[in-house]
Amino acid sequence: MTTTKFHPEVYTQALTSKSVSYASPSNIALIKYWGKHGVQIPKNPSISFTLDTCKTTTKLSYIKREEINDEYELKVILDGKHKPGFEPKIHQFFGRIESYLPFVKDYAFTIETSNSFPHSSGIASSASGLSALALCLMEMEREMQPEMTFKHFNQKASFIARLGSGSGCRSLEGPLVVWGEHAEIKGSSDMYGVQYPYEVHPVFDNYQDAILLVDKGEKPVSSTVGHNLMHNHAYAASRFEQAVVNLSSLISILETGDLDAFVRLVESEALTLHAMMLTSNPYFILMKPNTLQIIDEIWEYRRETGIPVCFTLDAGANVHVLFPDKDKEQVHEFIKNDLSKYCQDNRYIFDSVGSGAIKL
Ligand code: PMV
Repeated sequence: MTTTKFHPEVYTQALTSKSVSYASPSNIALIKYWGKHGVQIPKNPSISFTLDTCKTTTKLSYIKREEINDEYELKVILDGKHKPGFEPKIHQFFGRIESYLPFVKDYAFTIETSNSFPHSSGIASSASGLSALALCLMEMEREMQPEMTFKHFNQKASFIARLGSGSGCRSLEGPLVVWGEHAEIKGSSDMYGVQYPYEVHPVFDNYQDAILLVDKGEKPVSSTVGHNLMHNHAYAASRFEQAVVNLSSLISILETGDLDAFVRLVESEALTLHAMMLTSNPYFILMKPNTLQIIDEIWEYRRETGIPVCFTLDAGANVHVLFPDKDKEQVHEFIKNDLSKYCQDNRYIFDSVGSGAIKL
């Protein structure tokens, strides 16, 4: 797929605004992206639920630079405090996007950002943070090119977000977003996320995600290192094929609302992601004893109550507990009474699927 459609046309309007703000959510993958090539091109297609309350809010302020040199001029402020430690990542991001948004070198930027979820909760803020920043930058471009279509804006914003955080390209819309080419999913692309285009059974409306914060510490393996472990991995090729097959199965599960099949598929995907890390070289165990305790309790609760609650994991020890909206009260009680003791400082977040980023 060519990327030339994302090179800018000639800008027809001058930029008169001084700042723009977006709130963009986190997302949780049902079919996992793990393994990439080139510049953030996924080795397999993935699909995620967009979250609602776990989000990053970013205000991007800009003034024209008097003198332009090879360096970008930017400052990152997190919760009101200057964080120079975050700036190299944004410099790298600007380097990747400059050929698509050439004005990044013409302005001095201040990026004021805050997350709705607690600091060092183990919830990655890169998907929500980079997608919020991508949207702010795209809003600048839209002001200079007002004839831009809504579709182009969304596609290019997701494309730009992808260059900062792969999974971040799935955060802009909701409730379900696919990233990565899949023969059965119309419009799917390796270059950007697209809203899931087919019918979804009402049982998935307002689907719930409770995030159990098992380990708030730094992850022992960054996602960049993790993705790289899939190069030369003994099981990589079959894992990439399996993700394609699993996504095909999910299409009919989403249509029919077969929650038993949903539970099996989602849990298997989570365990497969961790199995890839257990069997890589070097190998990693990212689950903690409490992760396994929680999984065990979920299985027992499901057996006893028949409620189709299931877990999924990202590349860490925290557990996402997924369940239908109609079972919310009961499952919330279960989490408060039985699972919260496995969380660090008893902390968990009740979230649900959301509809994507919003301009503030
Ligand atoms: O976007 P990254 O590079 O942080 O990778 C995210 C990978 C997983 O969260 C483990 C899976 C996924 O598809 O979100």
